[in-house]
Amino acid sequence: MTLLIDNIGELSTQHLTGEASPESGETAGVLRDAAVVLDGERIAWVGAARSAPDADERYDAEGRAVLPGWVDSHSHLVFAGDRTAEFEARMAGQAYAAGGIGVTTGATRSASDGELRRLLSARLAEALAGGTTYLETKTGYGLDVPNEARSAVLAGEFVDEVTYLGAHLVPAGADAEEYTSLVCGEMLAAVRPHVRWADVFCETGAFTEEQSRRVLEACRDAGLGLRVHGNQLGPGAGVRLAVELGAASVDHVNFLDEADVEALAGSWAGWSGPGGGQSTATAGTVATVLPACDLSTRAPLAPARRLLDAGVQIAIASNCNPGTSYTSSVSFCVTTAVLQMGLTVQEAVRAATFGGALALRRHVGTDADGQRAVGSIAVGHRADLHVLDAPSATHLAYRPGMPLTHAVWRAGERVR
Ligand code: NIG
Repeated sequence: MTLLIDNIGELSTQHLTGEASPESGETAGVLRDAAVVLDGERIAWVGAARSAPDADERYDAEGRAVLPGWVDSHSHLVFAGDRTAEFEARMAGQAYAAGGIGVTTGATRSASDGELRRLLSARLAEALAGGTTYLETKTGYGLDVPNEARSAVLAGEFVDEVTYLGAHLVPAGADAEEYTSLVCGEMLAAVRPHVRWADVFCETGAFTEEQSRRVLEACRDAGLGLRVHGNQLGPGAGVRLAVELGAASVDHVNFLDEADVEALAGSWAGWSGPGGGQSTATAGTVATVLPACDLSTRAPLAPARRLLDAGVQIAIASNCNPGTSYTSSVSFCVTTAVLQMGLTVQEAVRAATFGGALALRRHVGTDADGQRAVGSIAVGHRADLHVLDAPSATHLAYRPGMPLTHAVWRAGERVR
């Protein structure tokens, strides 16, 4: 079954070919008078509406903007419990500290599989309703072998991109070195079949540089891709470590010095994308900024503008979790990135679509494992579309807080 989507106000493909023509007034990756044809789960055609092929069905976008679905490359959705009291205390002036992770760990361990499944499924439905069509989520509220393994299995029932975050916090009463050994040994072995990525919270109060390195190296040796929570609460080794070990992404990046920015920029020096080979092999370390978390912890906003200007590829993600960012609204994050981080609308949209895909190394299709590229609209990519109830993506920032998601297709299926 094919579907023609036309009468599009603005088609934000985020597929950069290097052929943007500023003379025509077009922004790179943004088309006017365009149409898209979906064929099952894939995008079959993109181009000028006047040359669109026939299709079995037609969807009239009535002048609305069409974007790729959001790719949320950082979330923590496997949890039970609530931390409203901690949030209230923070709004009254208390600083965020990693210790709250332990509160959620207690609640998560006590929840049944059925309860965790129900919570996870409700959170995913919320994200989808806001236009998120591809999402990563993490373990990290189990912090012992059975509960980390259970979190990974449950996450894998719903999500393609599951990240092992046994190194989220040293559980109360545990010895940090012994716990790190557990994370690198028995826990990793239990979780390994169910995850694609590994992550570590490299921060004062969580894991030291040496412990983080041990975790990342053990996980890399076990065949996992790497991600790092770094430079969130203060300056530190997270970014350096992420770049040195070839992590796909370092997330938070609130406290960066010049050497951190240079290291990130350097990791992209040999990249053959986006106009070239769209290669995964040459991609560097994405800096993932988490605007909702920055607001909710009253942290200095991550320097997204500075990173982009330095040549770093960035992603914007929700970081949905009960402690620092209890929202899955990527639209809100995009709005914040424009209004408060100094990005243009298209830079922010790109970071929340193509950037997220790049951070998950899903910006290109890998036929071998049956995955299609996400985060941009091009032939052969997964048919993930987000129709806004607005003529352009600019309205996301121009009308902050308005519910602008009008329709959503995920893998070719209309889900909203
Ligand atoms: O990404 N920084 C570490 N992990 C989460 C917060 C987890 C929590 O406080 O529950 C984050 O912000």
